[in-house]
Parts: sequence; C-alpha cells; structure tokens
Amino acid sequence: MSIEWNDTFIVGIDELDQQHRSIVEHFTTFSQAVQDGSGKEILAEMAAFLADYAQLHFVTEERYMQMYDYPRIEEQRREHEDFTRDARELRNRIDEEGASRELAVALTGKMVRWVIQHIRNHDRAMAIYVKERMAASK
Ligand SMILES: [Fe+2]
Ligand SMILES: [Fe+2]
Repeated sequence: MSIEWNDTFIVGIDELDQQHRSIVEHFTTFSQAVQDGSGKEILAEMAAFLADYAQLHFVTEERYMQMYDYPRIEEQRREHEDFTRDARELRNRIDEEGASRELAVALTGKMVRWVIQHIRNHDRAMAIYVKERMAASK
C-alpha cells in the first residue's frame, strides 16, 4: 500500500495542509523502508516520528474545530484516537519485536488507508465548514 502527496489531499487551510503533507511524505518514506526491508532502527525512528507528529497535528486540528464550533468534532476525536492507538501499537511492536515484515506491512497498510480516507473525507468536510466560519467572522 503506497501513498504519495498530491492535490487531492489539499483542504485549503495552509497550516493543516503543511502538516498533512509532512505526514503523507513520511508515510511514503516509511512504506518504502518497510518494502525495502530496512533495519529496526530506521523503522522505529520513523514510527516514533509518525506517532508524535500525528499527535501534534490532531491538537492543531482540534483547536480549529473548537474555535469555530465544528459540530462533528466528536467524530473527528474518535477517528484521531483510533489512529493514535494504531500509531502507538506500531511503535511498540517495532520496539519489542523489531517489526516483522508482515506486521509492518499490515499496520502501515491500515494506517495509510486511514490517512487517505480521513483527510479526503473528514478533514475536507471540516475545512469547508471552518473556512466558511472564518470568512463570516472577518
Ligand atoms: Fe482530522
Ligand atoms: Fe488532519
């Protein structure tokens, strides 16, 4: 399962687009490393980055939602929690088991699918709402 940044991920809020881009690009590198059978250190480092960076991104995103009273914030929070759980699991399993190829492939596949559908559906819908509220409050 591969992923590459392209315009279909753009939601139109610069700060979020930059963070999404960073997440997507790191996943591209990570998936490649998994496929290449890269060493445990590299995988562990990247999994830790993804877990931490996703956390930072969710905080940023939820701040926008709170600021503009986004009605579907709870749904977003649940989605973010699911991803956070998978990211932590990936990191822990790599730390403990040195990431078997099967595990890394299965988990990254699931996370990549999540990133694609979450940004394109949930985050885009949220950004449309937030941008309308931003424009109205100017
Ligand atoms: Fe989100
Ligand atoms: Fe997002």
